[in-house]
Amino acid sequence: MSKYKDIKKITVTHIKKMKNEEKIVCLTAYDYTSAKILDESGVDLILVGDSLGMVVAGYENTLSVTLDQIILHCQYVKRAVKRGFLVADIPFGYYQVSVEEAVKNCIRVIKETGFEAVKLEGGAEIVPIVERLVRSGVNVMGHIGLMPQMVNVMGGYKIQGRNNDEKLLDDAIALEKAGVFSIVLEGIVENVAKKITENLSVPTIGIGSGRYCDGQILVFHDLFGLYDDITPKFAKRYCDGRTIFLNAAKDYVRETKESIFPEEKHAFLE
Ligand code: KIV
Repeated sequence: MSKYKDIKKITVTHIKKMKNEEKIVCLTAYDYTSAKILDESGVDLILVGDSLGMVVAGYENTLSVTLDQIILHCQYVKRAVKRGFLVADIPFGYYQVSVEEAVKNCIRVIKETGFEAVKLEGGAEIVPIVERLVRSGVNVMGHIGLMPQMVNVMGGYKIQGRNNDEKLLDDAIALEKAGVFSIVLEGIVENVAKKITENLSVPTIGIGSGRYCDGQILVFHDLFGLYDDITPKFAKRYCDGRTIFLNAAKDYVRETKESIFPEEKHAFLE
């Protein structure tokens, strides 16, 4: 099924090579237990996304996520993951002020987490940061299209590429030239994402960008049907985790109220 299934540790070289060989499977994770399940499943790349602000912390958007929060969750995930390639999302405010500050913050994440790459949102405007990071020995993943950190200036979460497809392609090419190893294409109409994918030598990882990207990424809570504040059309639910958890919690409440749980087998008898 996958040429890479017996590879003990996926590296940036494998991710880049997969472009012409097979789809790259990516998912977000935020804690030890779930990351361990994903690593066992054969996911190639695990991202600690700033989506943790919404699905873990319950914020309205990703803007208030801090670098310390990302570092903490990366540390949890790192302890679980043996095989997947590990990418840390750099949150809003930690790479916009100056190239020096961006490089310092990204290097801090790599040093304190043991992660192998960082992800930054932005197109041509972040090229100087990407170049400096790559020169400093940091793998960088780009992220263009619908950029959740730009929600306020975009006026909401809007599908991209309907009238700015040339800009998106230019941004992707600029990021590739600057040295990114891969680019997330989020919320981009399918034919534009396809054109970008065909024009790059580094892999594209789609989320809500159709069928032709080199790989796909989903948010953990969307895949497992755990988060229902926002339910995007593109996010296929592989199970209804929320209902499974809810029913289990209700069973526990009922059984405990009715003294059905614990039973004798759950007790220490001597
Ligand atoms: O924060 C995140 O989880 C992301 C992915 C959705 C790509 O950026």
